[in-house]
Amino acid sequence: MSESYIQDLFAKRIGGSQYGKTDAIYKFERIKRAKRAARAAHPGEEIIDLGVGEPDEMAFPEVVRTLCAEARKPENRGYADNGDAVLKEAAARYLERVCGVAGINPETEVLHSIGSKAALSILPAALINPGDYVLMTVPGYPVFGTHAAYLGGRVHNLPLTETNQFLPDLDSVPAEVLKQAKVLVLNYPNNPTGASPTPEFFAKAVAFARQHRLVVIHDAAYAALVFEGRPLSFLATPGAKEVGIELHSASKSFNMTGWRCGFVAGNELLVRAYGDVKDNTDSGQFLAIQHAAAHGFDHPEITEKIAVKYSRRMDALVAVLAKAGFQARKPRGSFFLYVRAPKAAVSQGGARIEFRNAEEVSQWLITEKLISTVPWDDAGAYLRFSVTYAAKTVAQERRTVGTVAERLGDVRFEF
Ligand SMILES: Cc1ncc(COP(=O)(O)O)c(C=O)c1O
Repeated sequence: MSESYIQDLFAKRIGGSQYGKTDAIYKFERIKRAKRAARAAHPGEEIIDLGVGEPDEMAFPEVVRTLCAEARKPENRGYADNGDAVLKEAAARYLERVCGVAGINPETEVLHSIGSKAALSILPAALINPGDYVLMTVPGYPVFGTHAAYLGGRVHNLPLTETNQFLPDLDSVPAEVLKQAKVLVLNYPNNPTGASPTPEFFAKAVAFARQHRLVVIHDAAYAALVFEGRPLSFLATPGAKEVGIELHSASKSFNMTGWRCGFVAGNELLVRAYGDVKDNTDSGQFLAIQHAAAHGFDHPEITEKIAVKYSRRMDALVAVLAKAGFQARKPRGSFFLYVRAPKAAVSQGGARIEFRNAEEVSQWLITEKLISTVPWDDAGAYLRFSVTYAAKTVAQERRTVGTVAERLGDVRFEF
């Protein structure tokens, strides 16, 4: 069959006429395939999935009830466009009550998003011209950089390393890059490292942005999931509102990943520009969903309950991994435990297998131990364990972690 002429029409940014022809398989697809193979090789045995990047539970009943009630209201039926006042006002209250950020004007300094991912894909169009640099942290969530590159922008990666507490070294950016840099994208608590920010680091980011005329976009998707103290918002930093915006999401904080709702807050000009591009991108999230999310943001005790669960699960997983030889330290927030990958594993029988990178460790763990993780090799070899594994009760949680302990019990890891 001759090739469709459509093949020649694809834009260069997705591969041009070579689109879809590459044999490269991406990381998450490799994990999926390994899981499938492990399932086929060990029918009836449970795969412990510690690779999941989203909550294992439903949204809380009261949020679902709000959605049902709001969905019945005729006034909520139409295009939401850039939203009504309900979520914006709840967002401003939330920032003040939960993060201690007072004085956010809900009319001019907040707009809803159809999730942070959507906001990160929209914002580059408001800021990036061909040749502009974006400073992104790696390993990380790449969406802003991907869209910046679609627009002809360039990405300068800032590695997150243990020696820097997984905070980027802003002073490492070369002067030629800085001259053409426009945006610094941050994300704390961080996916995948689980690292939390410090007020000093945020203060440095504000000063750095001012000095080099940059916009700071802080992706706070995990901000409220903290195990002690109150969430640290970038907007709580003096001067933050002059340089940037923060993205909050109901996805992880309220178990609402599939609902697609969050908000963008901070600098008025940036919020307005986001709104203008957004208006030409989507027609807004269903108002009933926005109103249900607003109910969530007005009830931060929901997130606190979720965080208590992750904290408990984190304690148990840290103990098991530490016993197996990993340098596992409980993060201060998020649901990710990021640990250095071993260089080799020695089984009780003495068989020794060496690993060249985290990817190989992750494949071995799924194939040999039926434990799924996510490998990261961008800045050192690390594995990301997530505590969002499926377990409905504390007893089930114990059983799951106990199974992990058992499966790792007969291995000695070398680091
Ligand atoms: C760092 C980070 N930002 C944004 C998102 C997307 O969040 P949302 O569901 O609000 O689009 C994720 C989801 O995994 C994430 O890890």
